[in-house]
Amino acid sequence: MAGDLLASAVPRAASYTIGASKVRSLGHINDFRSAIAGLAQDEEPALIAIRRELHAHPELAFEEHRTAGVVARELARLGISARTGVGRTGVVGTIQGGRPGPVLALRGDMDALPIEERTGLAFASQNPGRMHACGHDVHSSTLLGVAAILAKLAPQMAGTVRLLFQPAEEILGGAAAMIADGALDGVDVALGFHNHPEMPVGTFGAVRGATYAACDRFRIVVRGVSGHAAYPHTTVDPIVAAAQLVTTLQTVVSREIGPLDPCVVTVGAIHGGTVHNIIPDSCELLGTVRTLSASVRMQAEAAVRRICAGTDATLRTVSELHWAPGVPPTVNDDGVLQTAIAGVTRQLGEVLVPCEASMGAEDFAMIAERVPSFVLRIGSGAAGRNDHLHNSHYQPDEACIGLGAQALAGAALELLG
Ligand code: NI
Repeated sequence: MAGDLLASAVPRAASYTIGASKVRSLGHINDFRSAIAGLAQDEEPALIAIRRELHAHPELAFEEHRTAGVVARELARLGISARTGVGRTGVVGTIQGGRPGPVLALRGDMDALPIEERTGLAFASQNPGRMHACGHDVHSSTLLGVAAILAKLAPQMAGTVRLLFQPAEEILGGAAAMIADGALDGVDVALGFHNHPEMPVGTFGAVRGATYAACDRFRIVVRGVSGHAAYPHTTVDPIVAAAQLVTTLQTVVSREIGPLDPCVVTVGAIHGGTVHNIIPDSCELLGTVRTLSASVRMQAEAAVRRICAGTDATLRTVSELHWAPGVPPTVNDDGVLQTAIAGVTRQLGEVLVPCEASMGAEDFAMIAERVPSFVLRIGSGAAGRNDHLHNSHYQPDEACIGLGAQALAGAALELLG
């Protein structure tokens, strides 16, 4: 899984299984190769212009009204029927192929982050405190690029492509909202993608099995008995208990979960007390747990609960643990991965680089939980830059848009057979 270089393992023309259905990788798909490449090249300037338009007007989760308007406008220009207001601010476009076949969902997210942009770009954010720092502007324009390519090839295409322009990925809520509105009804297979600046533009990545982590959050309120700092024996000190909790929680990963099973337990905030000479009534801890499997996820939660109870028993505090389950791990289906990667390499050559599972979370997990799916990683790193997602200086190499559209169109046609 982690560090696997899949490109070399993928044969060029063979039979692959997607879920229950057999899809043949036929020679005629090669005819599509130059058509896709030509269309991607033609569309690239327009896609970059759209990306810059979206970048200048970033919108937060479930506020993507302007962005959805741009998407709907572009789909209309391409002659693609679309439904707006799906999952509140999402857009669903449908491309019907000329032949019968499976229904493939292609998902790109649209929302921005509450970050003040510091790139100094001519097309930098015009919305104070808002920035496309995770590249979802790139994702929206890339998916529009795939739409433009596949709309032109639709008469020769088998099956149906459903384009999911998803809101609110950053709060891990948009995928569930779109699913609740029927966006996945009748879908056989799904493709997602994310830009990765740690990978140079022109490279792509595929992780077998779990590719992004489950993300759960917790809030612990440690309650004690307040009093004078000079008379600690008359109090029950929640600060000492909170400090012990923080250190004991580190043993979940180091002493309890198997060393070959990835798990992160992070306490990201502590709030307690007011001044130096008062022992307060309570202290609050906020944290997150990231895991790559259901079993480790359950094990970690049980450990956090037990440590809270154990600390209370030891130090006389009373803790309330509020556990907020987030998204499950995003798990790639091996058959879909193999077929999609065969399409990518057929389109672009040996562009796969080794990459590992990420402990970051993706709400595409909600989709991958329901239909066989694969998330393609698209290298977006610009030469000479050392960019990170969610950074106020983040600048992806815009060449990833045209290349990403080309790769995803190739993967989509391979999956549709
Ligand atoms: Ni993102």
